[in-house]
Amino acid sequence: MTEVSVNVAGSSQDVPTVVVNGVDGASIRQIKALQRPISVAGVMEHALQHRERVGVQDFVLLEDFRSEAAFIDNLRKRFHENIIYTYIGNVLISVNPYKPLPIYTEEKTKLYYKKAFFEAPPHVFAIADNAYRSLVYEHREQCILISGESGSGKTEASKKVLEYIAARTNHLHNVETVKDKLLQSNPLLEAFGNAKTHRNDNSSRFGKYMDIQFNYEGAPEGGHILNYLLEKSRVVSQMSGERNFHIFYQLLAGADQGLLQHLKLEGRPEMYKYTTDNSPSIQKLNDAEQFRTVLEAMKVIEISESEQREIFEIVASVLHLGNVKFVQNEKGYAEILRDNNSIHVAELLKVDLTKLREALTSRTIDARGDVVNTPLDLEQAQYARDALAKAIYEKHFSWLVSRLNASLAPKDKDPRASVMGILDIYGFEIFPKNSFEQFCINFCNEKLQQLFIELTLKQEQEEYLREGIEWEPVDYFNNIVICDLIEARHQGIISILDDECLRPGDATDLSFLEKLSQKLDGHAHFKSHRKVDVKTQKLMGRDEFCLVHYAGEVTYNVNTFIEKNNDLLFRDMQNLMTSSGNNTVGCCFKDLNLLSKKRPETAITQFKISLNELIKILSSKEPSYIRCIKPNDFKMPMQFDEKLVSHQVKYLGLMENLRVRRAGFAYRRTYEAFLERYKCLSSDTWPNYRGQARDGVQKLVEALQYEQEEYRMGNTKVFIRFPKTLFETEDAFQIKKNDIATIIQSRWRGHWQRREYLKMRQSAIIMQKWIRRFLAQKQKERRRKAADVIRAFIRGFITRNGPETIENRRFLGIAKVHWLKRLSTRLPKKVLDLSWPHCPATCQEASRELHRLHRAHLARKYRLALTPAEKKQFELKVLAEKMFKSKKNSYPSSICDRFMEDRLNEEHRVLRNTFMASPSWPTGEQLIYSCEAIKYDRRGYKPRERALLASDKALYVLDAAGRKTYKLKHRLPLDKLRVIVTNETDGLVLIKIPQELKKDKGDLIISVSHVIEALTIVTDYTKKPEIIEIVDTRTIAHDLVNGKQGGTIEVTHGPQPAIQRAKSGNLLVVAATP
Ligand SMILES: Nc1ncnc2c1ncn2[C@@H]1O[C@H](COP(=O)(O)OP(=O)(O)OP(=O)(O)O)[C@@H](O)[C@H]1O
Ligand SMILES: [Mg+2]
Repeated sequence: MTEVSVNVAGSSQDVPTVVVNGVDGASIRQIKALQRPISVAGVMEHALQHRERVGVQDFVLLEDFRSEAAFIDNLRKRFHENIIYTYIGNVLISVNPYKPLPIYTEEKTKLYYKKAFFEAPPHVFAIADNAYRSLVYEHREQCILISGESGSGKTEASKKVLEYIAARTNHLHNVETVKDKLLQSNPLLEAFGNAKTHRNDNSSRFGKYMDIQFNYEGAPEGGHILNYLLEKSRVVSQMSGERNFHIFYQLLAGADQGLLQHLKLEGRPEMYKYTTDNSPSIQKLNDAEQFRTVLEAMKVIEISESEQREIFEIVASVLHLGNVKFVQNEKGYAEILRDNNSIHVAELLKVDLTKLREALTSRTIDARGDVVNTPLDLEQAQYARDALAKAIYEKHFSWLVSRLNASLAPKDKDPRASVMGILDIYGFEIFPKNSFEQFCINFCNEKLQQLFIELTLKQEQEEYLREGIEWEPVDYFNNIVICDLIEARHQGIISILDDECLRPGDATDLSFLEKLSQKLDGHAHFKSHRKVDVKTQKLMGRDEFCLVHYAGEVTYNVNTFIEKNNDLLFRDMQNLMTSSGNNTVGCCFKDLNLLSKKRPETAITQFKISLNELIKILSSKEPSYIRCIKPNDFKMPMQFDEKLVSHQVKYLGLMENLRVRRAGFAYRRTYEAFLERYKCLSSDTWPNYRGQARDGVQKLVEALQYEQEEYRMGNTKVFIRFPKTLFETEDAFQIKKNDIATIIQSRWRGHWQRREYLKMRQSAIIMQKWIRRFLAQKQKERRRKAADVIRAFIRGFITRNGPETIENRRFLGIAKVHWLKRLSTRLPKKVLDLSWPHCPATCQEASRELHRLHRAHLARKYRLALTPAEKKQFELKVLAEKMFKSKKNSYPSSICDRFMEDRLNEEHRVLRNTFMASPSWPTGEQLIYSCEAIKYDRRGYKPRERALLASDKALYVLDAAGRKTYKLKHRLPLDKLRVIVTNETDGLVLIKIPQELKKDKGDLIISVSHVIEALTIVTDYTKKPEIIEIVDTRTIAHDLVNGKQGGTIEVTHGPQPAIQRAKSGNLLVVAATP
């Protein structure tokens, strides 16, 4: 279960938002199951509960439509929720809120554009919009009939209609002035035709029918106003606490000093008899403000300055006229008191003062040709004065209306124009004492009610006929009986009254009443004093008669009926007024056919004629109704007086209206609209029904399990008989709406997200495009540069050997750098590595130099890394090189091996050490070389193993055989010796011993394994390389003792080196073959 906020009536204005528990995923089948039985889920009850609070928005949906209590209860509930509008079908009921409500804003206005009634909460705008659309799109002329008691809000409603039309046509061109004029006609007419009464501070004291003419586009292009029955008696007298027409006070409060002086007025209403009953001072402020509004309106209506002046002169003259006083002269006749009032009147009306005074005090009677002038008594004179004031004001008012009409008249006659009428007319009136005016007004309402019933029934019947649904006759109160009672020729009340007025002789109100009784007694709707029951007789005066109107019984007092109906202005006065120098006054009175002796129509006949004309106009149009109700008598907000409302409901015939409307079906809707709203309630029709809307609705009602008597299928509409059926459907819809809302939400979110995504994607693509462009530009730039570089490089390469240019210089530079870099990674690492990388031709010299440096560097490095022992080795090797290179063949093979100072094995080393420790080894002598050797005898060349030790002083030849220490054979001081070696690869060393040392022996012939090593090490000490002789001979003679030639040493080559005695007796040295 989820909590979802839904609006039960589909509108936020009509019904406050309620929270219902939505049924998650409830299928239509489940909902159907839910809605049918009484045990409906809490959801529906919840919705119904709210319906309880704010009632139904259309009375046809009222379950108990015959109950007035239920009707009023519905009104009251809504009123307390500030919902002032309710429908009965297409009739709008409006309850005056007596406080400003925020329901007329521009936003609300737009809510009603092109909306059907059921699409938005009931509103006067809905009425206006429907009428406007029927007019413009279907070319059916419209009228909006607004009725209701005084103060119920008729005029306000009519203004709202006008304002809506103005707003609705805002988009159309060239209508501003016309709209302005139409809107501004209101303050002007209200100033002259409205007054403060007990019931309404701005009570319209005339009936008004206004036509608005629209062109083919639907733009207002003109208007026409008809006015009815101005309450002119108000000009001369008002009930206490009430006021005269607004304009008197407005003029006095708002006119500037210049105008007041011209009009001879003082700005205080209490100065004038006709305006003495004044209201508090705050009113004055409003009056002054209103006066400016009136002047503004006059400007818009194009009433010229001079016309305005004349208008105000008339208003002022009425005020002055009221102050004209009479005194009785000695003959008992009236005489005007000689003060300035009558002078002011004459001046302002531009009439002859004497004639004015005469007209006010005498009367000319034309009795069958004899013209007699009779003076008037005081009462008659006062009556004449008041009659003049009333006549001037009334005619002037009518003139103003015609002046307005002239200004509102469309510029061109448009054959395609159509008209919408708005009727704002007084409602049914029942006062404790009802007079001629109430009679007229109630007659008017009777006629309008008749029209209303006829049209409503007709409409209803026509609709059924159109839709092919059987019409069941409706029983209703037909008030044609009463209308006939009033207006029937010869027998109607109007005829009787006129007859009484026109007949010769003394007709009085009572004689009129007598005639009525004679003719009408017995009529079901007429009651005379003598015919009513005793109980009523007590309540009814003898000068009264009673009519049973559709709205109830009304008792009229016949007093002043004759006088008011005659409504005659004395002929002298009429003549006088026609002669007025004030054009407007002249114009007002000139229409009267004074020359004709024929009596003008009586007031009631004039009214009847104009009323019938109005009915004719209205009948030719399609009507819409606004029925206004006043909730209380105190002009107070939030007060709902049920009794008062009940009265009005009765007078307005609303129950009758509802009954007619509910005679057939409570609800009807075009198939399309019905399907559109409820299609979600059947899987056959959701989300869209592809076939005919009618078939869709058929499927829907089947799915909703409507019973046969609950509905009918018309040609274009579905008709639902009971409100309950509709409520159940609506409730099911409200539940389903939650599910749908979820779907819509998710779809919308998806859609929204996708839109966002697409937007972002688009942006990303654009950004990418720009970035790619930027990068491509950069790359192009780079490539171009690279190409330039390459080109320059190639050119440099091509011209590298030519004369120097920038390009080849750069190329060579690069080549050098590259070569150097390459070189740096390929430098020989070892001192013996003589390789050297190839270099460009231009770098030969540098390459050579670098090679040299590098070698030096490697050598140095090598050298620095040498240990002293290694260094010694090198010195020895260098020495060896010096001594033997290219001199002795075994030299190359000596290079690789390290020279060692000690070549003795371990055993010999022990012997040596022992020897060196013996006294045979002179103290301080230093051993420099030790090795084993073979000594060959000088005779016989027998080989004998010996050890050789070389000290820094002498060469020791030692015998090691079988001893614990060496036996010294010879000690030969180094500086005395000479050494001979062959140039071959052999181990022969012939040591020449000087004579003095040869005690017994001759030269020493030995062989050692490392000849070059031994000789080099010793020489290194002796520093006497010259003692060594390398011979390149095949034979070498050696000495014996005492320098005698001893033997010969033969030198030969062989594969196997050896030293042995040859067969020749010589010593044969076999050297390795080179
Ligand atoms: N819809 C409304 N919203 C607010 N106030 C309203 C509304 N309708 C009427 N009123 C108040 O009620 C007063 C009387 O209304 P209005 O003059 O329209 O009555 P009326 O029916 O024309 O009376 P009358 O028959 O005396 O001319 C208005 O001046 C206004 O203060
Ligand atoms: Mg009004």
